[in-house]
Amino acid sequence: MEKTLFVSLGKRSYPIHIGTDTLKTIGEKLKQHNLKERATIISTPYIFELYGSVVVKSLKDQGIDSQTVLVEPGEESKSLGKAAQIYDKLIGSKTDRFMPILALGGGVIGDLSGFVASTYMRGTPYIQLPTTLLAQVDSSIGGKVAVNHPEAKNIIGSFYQPRFVLADMNTLESLPEREYLSGLAEVVKYAFISADDFLDYLEKNISGIMAKETDVLTEIVLRCCRIKGKIVEEDERDYGLRAVLNFGHTIGHSIEAVSHYENYRHGEAVAIGIMGAALVSKIKGYADDKLVSKVRNLLTSMSLPTELKEVSVKDILEHIKLDKKVVEGKIQFVLLKAPGEVIIESVDSKTIEKAVKQLVKEGARA
Ligand SMILES: NC(=O)c1ccc[n+]([C@@H]2O[C@H](COP(=O)([O-])OP(=O)(O)OC[C@H]3O[C@@H](n4cnc5c(N)ncnc54)[C@H](O)[C@@H]3O)[C@@H](O)[C@H]2O)c1
Ligand SMILES: [Zn+2]
Repeated sequence: MEKTLFVSLGKRSYPIHIGTDTLKTIGEKLKQHNLKERATIISTPYIFELYGSVVVKSLKDQGIDSQTVLVEPGEESKSLGKAAQIYDKLIGSKTDRFMPILALGGGVIGDLSGFVASTYMRGTPYIQLPTTLLAQVDSSIGGKVAVNHPEAKNIIGSFYQPRFVLADMNTLESLPEREYLSGLAEVVKYAFISADDFLDYLEKNISGIMAKETDVLTEIVLRCCRIKGKIVEEDERDYGLRAVLNFGHTIGHSIEAVSHYENYRHGEAVAIGIMGAALVSKIKGYADDKLVSKVRNLLTSMSLPTELKEVSVKDILEHIKLDKKVVEGKIQFVLLKAPGEVIIESVDSKTIEKAVKQLVKEGARA
């Protein structure tokens, strides 16, 4: 089973294929895109061990050669040093700008591979083969590619769209539980920023979500890709509308940063950040108690955290103030008025302080 949707960006338009056992179709799809030259697969040792042979076989069946570059898992691999090692390999193997790069892995592999593809020979084609829920619903779509600098995450990068995205839901079977839940936080984000019945769908399918039922997951990935795709179509380069994708990310990023990216997975921090954004919305008079409870209940039903623990409120507030989104002492926030209705507004630090303190108290509800 496979479903396809398109991101419409003129000459940079591309399809997203979502389904089960789809990795074995990679060879055919490359050919359909007229990409018949040797492919370079970028992955981690473990992911390649699990899924590499299916990809390599599919390529071989279509007469496409491949080579593989393996990088260690973890955010540290999203570096200029690692990109340089990949350039060495590409140059050493005489890779030219018609030979595709396949990113087989989570967001780290996708961002790193996309960055290399965007710069090597001024741009080589690349394909996203996302293997985490987060990568399937978020990082593989939209063309933001980047590596980190020791001082700041994602600061060296560009906008560079893939030729296509191929998400194989079967890969989620091997995904550790914590990574799966982390991806679900982004799913919750989409549900609250989109004005369709996605939120209802999630609320009605909690047991299927927690049991990782393939049909439910396929539908979720499809809907998230549709929502993100539409936003990217309108604001590819992040000058306006795309900012709504930051819902839950203002407080979320600060939680990650002050805990040195160690205690929280990105999605866990985003889950607390979504709760925080709902509380800010309540304090500002946009959201009522019912809406705040809706946010809390959905997060909790997915075993996602809503409470701020082991991080100092003061550190969070200081970090938020250092954030690039601060304008004249006010912080840009994506606020919730109703499900599917968000506004971007600057919020003063006193209001944020109040909300962050309430996040600590969320624990008392459990
Ligand atoms: N480009 C964008 O628009 C965008 C959006 C959101 C996040 N990101 C980036 O994405 C990254 C996070 O991505 P992530 O959450 O996918 O993390 P990740 O890529 O680090 O993957 C998480 C862990 O799961 C392992 N893994 C991946 N797939 C697996 C599978 N199928 N089975 C078993 N293990 C598997 C990985 O090796 C890793 O250890 C961050 O660097 C973030 O900045 C980018
Ligand atoms: Zn995110």
